[in-house]
Amino acid sequence: MALIEVVFILVGVCCVFFCGRRLARVLMVLFPKFWYPLPENFFTSMGKWAVITGGSEGIGRAYAQQLAGHGLNVVLISRSRGKLETAAQDIELTTGRKVTVISADFTKDDIYTSIEESISSLDVAILVNNVGILPSQIPCKLLETTNLEEKILQVINCNLKSMAKMCRLILPGMVERGRGIILNVSSGMAIVPFPLYTLYGATKVFIERFAQCLQAEYKSKGILVQTVSPFGVSTSMMGYQKEDLMTFSAEAFVKSSLTYLKAGDHSYGSVRHTILGSFFQNIPTWVLRHEAFHQSFKEFVKKRVGA
Ligand SMILES: NC(=O)c1ccc[n+]([C@@H]2O[C@H](COP(=O)([O-])OP(=O)(O)OC[C@H]3O[C@@H](n4cnc5c(N)ncnc54)[C@H](OP(=O)(O)O)[C@@H]3O)[C@@H](O)[C@H]2O)c1
Repeated sequence: MALIEVVFILVGVCCVFFCGRRLARVLMVLFPKFWYPLPENFFTSMGKWAVITGGSEGIGRAYAQQLAGHGLNVVLISRSRGKLETAAQDIELTTGRKVTVISADFTKDDIYTSIEESISSLDVAILVNNVGILPSQIPCKLLETTNLEEKILQVINCNLKSMAKMCRLILPGMVERGRGIILNVSSGMAIVPFPLYTLYGATKVFIERFAQCLQAEYKSKGILVQTVSPFGVSTSMMGYQKEDLMTFSAEAFVKSSLTYLKAGDHSYGSVRHTILGSFFQNIPTWVLRHEAFHQSFKEFVKKRVGA
């Protein structure tokens, strides 16, 4: 066989291999239930309780509802006792599971001893590190953030410290039992450097890297760690934006995201947000850095949240 024929065959094999891999990835995102099936008793086989930070409304509340529907009792942790109790009543009524509430402010430092006392005896199947805040609902440059000094501390405490501290409290029990799931809620904003969300985006990058490394460290102990990165979900944080092709209801997003739980240490949680993620990754960085992009993005968000 001539050398040129060998070269053509090798190039052909490489192309088939490359396209095949891409096609397989697309099929995996399109049909998660086929590629990453979860047995009926998957969640209850991991333990008895789900602990959800920021669980009284929005995405956290939806995780609580879904996980209780899968047979787990639930601990909801957030600030407002009224919202917590309403959510607990609804979940108990609709699923018949037990719901415990803990009122705590994750922007503060002194909350973890009492959280530890309340959850230390529980057989936790899944920790959902969901709580997260924006320094400003309307995207703005760092120095334009109102009360910046205070916001820096609050955002870091709430978005980062809460996640690391909750892992510190719950992971040892999981390791001892040889089972458990840690699900961290990040954001599509972490996928590329996203100006005007500087502080928020950077906290979410921390969350993703933390989860990747934690998964590598504890996979062999039977622990599953995943970060899920949504884009638009219609919640109070996003001014209850109208649901559309790219903006989910919290319930729809969470239902979809749980089907990707075994899809590796990172997921966008849905087909549509995976497409959006690929789109953002392919935008040249000079576009993201451009003032005109910042201005139109800000106007776009203002219009969406009705500000
Ligand atoms: N919505 C989206 O489009 C979107 C997109 C990407 C990522 N995310 C991420 O998803 C997560 C949940 O967001 P969401 O949209 O569901 O938010 P949300 O609707 O505003 O709900 C936030 C939850 O966190 C609690 N919370 C807020 N500040 C708290 C604090 N300092 N201490 C304790 N609890 C606190 C709230 O209850 P209290 O007010 O009673 O404390 C509520 O239960 C966040 O990490 C966010 O970054 C959201």
